[in-house]
Amino acid sequence: MTVKEAILARRSVRKYNGQPIPKEILDEIILAGQIYPSSKSKFPVQLIVVEDEATIRALAGCKAAGAGMLKSAAAAIAVIGDAEAADGWVEDCSIVMTQMMLRATELGVGNCWCQMRMRFQREEGPEGPAVSADDAVRAILGYPEPYKLEAVLSLGMIDEQPEPHTEAYAKAEMVHREKF
Ligand SMILES: Cc1cc2nc3c(=O)[nH]c(=O)nc-3n(C[C@H](O)[C@H](O)[C@H](O)COP(=O)(O)O)c2cc1C
Repeated sequence: MTVKEAILARRSVRKYNGQPIPKEILDEIILAGQIYPSSKSKFPVQLIVVEDEATIRALAGCKAAGAGMLKSAAAAIAVIGDAEAADGWVEDCSIVMTQMMLRATELGVGNCWCQMRMRFQREEGPEGPAVSADDAVRAILGYPEPYKLEAVLSLGMIDEQPEPHTEAYAKAEMVHREKF
């Protein structure tokens, strides 16, 4: 699969077939995240790879909506960045996420980005003060400050690849030439 083919084939997959991800395949996905360009060469990204089923299901409860894919995921990779060491930690984490998603796609592993940064397990309300998704995940995975959670990559085996995007999906209106 070429990089272009992987870009077209990558789709957000939120339901998996319950099979475990073979170790050598998961290791390849992780490797794709370990080799990344980094703003000011700070390399602030850390990965927490979770395969324990109970822990993955607990992560699904860390965000009020949009984390349902973790209910059937075989693995979850929390992508955190050192926010004190690197002002580009969000960008660096996003690159790591993207590279792992493309490699997972190439290897036939279903994957979906689960946004955690700026998301909440509970908004402020009658039940009490707001709880950020970062704090909820931190309580489970135990990473210290100044690390901040960008996202969790949800991974699982699938029986069939979803329909790839075609070039017709390309957003023609987003490209401006010479001036906006
Ligand atoms: C930064 C980012 C955050 C996302 N967060 C979530 C999320 O929390 N939950 C979810 O189900 N999908 C999430 N997605 C997946 C998008 O919904 C998906 O990429 C979009 O609908 C386009 O579909 P496609 O990925 O199949 O091309 C996220 C994608 C990105 C890039």
